[in-house]
Formats: sequence, C-alpha cells, structure tokens
Amino acid sequence: MTATAAAEPIRSGPDRVAADPDHVVIFDTTLRDGEQSPGCSMNLDEKLRVARALEEMGVDVIEAGFPIASNGDFEAVQAIARQVERCTVAGLARAAARDIDRAGEAVRDAVRPRIHTFISTSPLHMKYKLQMEPETVLEAVSFSVARARTYTDDVQWSPEDGSRTEPDFLCRTVEAAIKAGARTINIPDTVGYATPEDFAALFTMLKERVPGADRVVFSAHTHNDLGLAVANALAAVDVGARQVECTINGIGERAGNASLEEIVMAMRTRADRYHVKNDIEATHIMKVSRLVSSITGFQVQPNKAIVGANAFAHESGIHQDGMLKHAGTYEIMTPESVGVTKTNLVMGKHSGRNAFRNKLIDLGFGDVGDNAFQDAFQRFKDLADKKKDIYDEDIIALVDDEIASSEDAVQLQSVGVMAGSGGKARAQLTLTVSDDVRFAQAEGNGPVDAVFNAIGRIVPHQATLQLYQVHAVTGGTDAQAEVTVRLEEDGKTVNGQGADYDTLVASARAYVHALNKLAVKRLKTKPAGDAASVAAE
Ligand code: KIV
Ligand code: ZN
Repeated sequence: MTATAAAEPIRSGPDRVAADPDHVVIFDTTLRDGEQSPGCSMNLDEKLRVARALEEMGVDVIEAGFPIASNGDFEAVQAIARQVERCTVAGLARAAARDIDRAGEAVRDAVRPRIHTFISTSPLHMKYKLQMEPETVLEAVSFSVARARTYTDDVQWSPEDGSRTEPDFLCRTVEAAIKAGARTINIPDTVGYATPEDFAALFTMLKERVPGADRVVFSAHTHNDLGLAVANALAAVDVGARQVECTINGIGERAGNASLEEIVMAMRTRADRYHVKNDIEATHIMKVSRLVSSITGFQVQPNKAIVGANAFAHESGIHQDGMLKHAGTYEIMTPESVGVTKTNLVMGKHSGRNAFRNKLIDLGFGDVGDNAFQDAFQRFKDLADKKKDIYDEDIIALVDDEIASSEDAVQLQSVGVMAGSGGKARAQLTLTVSDDVRFAQAEGNGPVDAVFNAIGRIVPHQATLQLYQVHAVTGGTDAQAEVTVRLEEDGKTVNGQGADYDTLVASARAYVHALNKLAVKRLKTKPAGDAASVAAE
C-alpha cells in the first residue's frame, strides 16, 4: 500500500456507518450488474481501468463481478481485489458452496474483502426458477451466509426479487441471514416493480420486525423498469437504508440499475431534504461516465440527468436570458460540480510534448505508458493540422482510443475509399499483423461495408456485426467521429472503439480493435498460439 493510501480512511461499509450514521455507503455494481447486461461486457484491462476510476472517485464498495460465472470473471475480481486499496471489493455468489468458495478465493487478497450472497425468496422465483420449498430456501440462507463468513467478516446477503416477496417470509429470511452473520442486508427490487412508497414501507417493516435489524446496514438495489430506480433508492435512504447499489450511467439488466450520478447528486443538491453524506468526489462524475460509455459503447442519451450532453445546455431565449442574469434561475447545480468543464479550447499545432503531457494529467489520464503517449501525441499533431479548433473532448477521444488499442496485435496503417452515388464502394487498406504489413481491397454496399470487407480479407472471421454506432465528439462538420463496433462470435461479444476526424478511418479502427479483442477471447480457449496468429488465421 502506498503512503498516500495509508493516510486516507479505508472504506468499509458497516464500520463506516456505525461510526457515522449519516454516511450512505455507495456500492457500485457497474462491473457486475452493469457488465452483465447485453453488449456491456468488458475485458480485464477495461475492468481494471473502471475500478481505478471508481476508487479515485470515492465509492465505498466495488462489486467487481460474479467469480463463478467464468474464469474471466474470477480473474477480473481477483485482479481488482489485488489492485484496489481504498474500497471494499465484493464478489457475488449464489447460495451454493462452490459459488461462495470461488467468491471467497477471488476477493481473498483485497484490503477489505466482501462476499455478497443471494437467493430468490419470492413465491414466483422459488416455485418456477429455483423449484425449491420455502423451508429449503431458508436453510440455504443460513448455510450460505455462514459459509461466506468463513472467508470474511464482511458478508452481504440479498433476497432476490425481495420487493415481490411475501412480507412474513421476507422477515424470516432476513432474520436467518443476520443470525448467520450477515452485516449488510440488501433488498433488491429485481424487476423494477416497486414504487417509492412501497419500497420505503418494506424497509420500515424490516427494521421494526426483524430481530437484530439494528445491528446491520440496510441496502437498496433498484432496477429501472418503471423509471423509478433512483426514486426507490432515495425512498429507502429516507427511512434509514445506509447503502445504495448503483451503476455508472445507470447501465444494467433491461432498463438498467439506479444511476450513481443521479443518486449522489440528488443527495448533494437536496441535502436539505436527505440529511445524509457520501464520500463521492462529484467532480469525477463526468470523467467516469465518459470512460464507461467509451468502453461499453453505450452512449449516454443527450437528455440524461447529470451526464447527458444537454444536462446543462440552455437553448430557449427566456432561459438564456435568465442564466445571464443569475445561473441559479435555471441551474440547480453547476456543471463544474460534476466535472463538466466549459468547452475548452485547448492546444494548437505548436503545442509541444510537455503541454500535451500536462493536458493529459489535467484530464485525469495519469500515466498512459510511453508507447501510447508517443502515438497519441503524433495523432494529436495530425489532428491539429487538419482541425481548426481542438477541444478537451477531442483529446479524450483520441487518447481513449490509443490506450484501448496500443497493445493490439493487428493495427490499421492506412485506408482509402472510393464511394458515391454511382455503384459499389471500393476500399483499399493496409494493416500490420504483428509488424507484418498486409494489403487488401474489397467492394461493399457503401463505404463502411467496403472497409469492413477489406479488413475481413486480412483477418478472416465468423463474427457477426451487432452494432455500428457513430458519435460526433464535438460540434461542427470537422468534428472527430467516435465509432463503436460490437461483434459477436460463438456467444462471445466484444466492443471495439475508434476515433478519428475521418469517420471511415474511425470505423476501420473500431472494427480492427473489436477483432483484436475477439482474438484475445478466442486465444483463452486455445492451448497455444498468440493473439496475432489467431487474429489473422
Ligand atoms: O437485481 C437483483 O436482484 C440482483 C441481485 C443479485 C442483488 O442483482
Ligand atoms: Zn440487479
């Protein structure tokens, strides 16, 4: 542990709440419930980057994954447990011995390990999903919590579909979990069915009726099927819940989970109403939101609260007039408070390496590694030659792209396209495959199709394209394009990203990046070989 880390408080949920009853534990499940949702999968390196950003932002608990789900999940939870110094790291486990043992092993090296174990308790889930009698479920609760306690003191228990569980039975299961040693009781609204009033009443009932309820931290885990996830989490806090489970940008199963940024800013902006505290450094919110969006390819909707592109935009004349007279007329929090800086004109083509390095530090990139830095600097210079104004967003897109792809075995060297209204488009392209230069050309129905076909000639594959998405990084016709490509092969899904002032170059970069990630995934199931040979075979 570093000297700086040792000086800061170690965040441990139940102990922290015992010391400060107004503290709300922020439990981030972006890497577990968020990552579990279709198309959001992240590789190890990406998960480590997100975990680092969450730690720097000040979350209390990072739920790093579901270790029994796959070797990849196990390795990611273990790596995060070893890397993170200031947060509790949790691994999820069903109520089965092998799940719990795997989770225990994965979080063992964490400074603060937590096992989060769960089982369904609603009549519907017990009958159809588990096909278990309520009494057997009750036994599984005691067994699973007790087994988890052999690995760590910090055990969290959840009744899945808790909000649709019969109240008497819910009380019995919670009591059993507390008796077996759970220190956090998390109540999930698994299907997003609850209303704020129902959910608050549920917590009040549990606190009043369950023996030992005063010894544990109650937690809310809410889904957004009716758009009530954040409201339900806040309603639970209102009646004494002291942990909320949430994800960055609200990503998660179906309509998603409660969004971290909305919960945190609601508590902060309406401190007069909630009277609670958390340790989140809110100025990091925008940066972390962008990171998760660029890694997962899930663009944030423009009108999304706190982190949407329009969240602080004032378009109508009346609003603009009000804003000029007093920002408080139409803004209940400042953009700066969540890390939205005024659109910053940054350096030009005469800026040197030092200025660029300082800019990266300002933007929160830290040490990107020498190769990625040199390549990013070269690309910044090229961009500055072609684009009149360069903004922070341009630099972020470019450096994100460089960090993501710098270790890739297959790299794009050049691409040229002939397209127009007069027939098929034609692409010519050069890639390097582990430094071996390869050339291909192909036709397609439009320029993007032609580029992807040419790449397929050099890197043959069976993957199908699930998503092709273009996002303009800034305004203006010379804006850089940020492209996301999602590929699926044999049930494995990967996202590739690419950024460039030329949309076709960005598309080629994103496609090549996705193929590199797919090759690494394939390699994990092969006994020998290297990423380059598998990618190009
Ligand atoms: O939504 C849910 O019920 C969950 C549990 C595993 C906590 O994600
Ligand atoms: Zn969930």
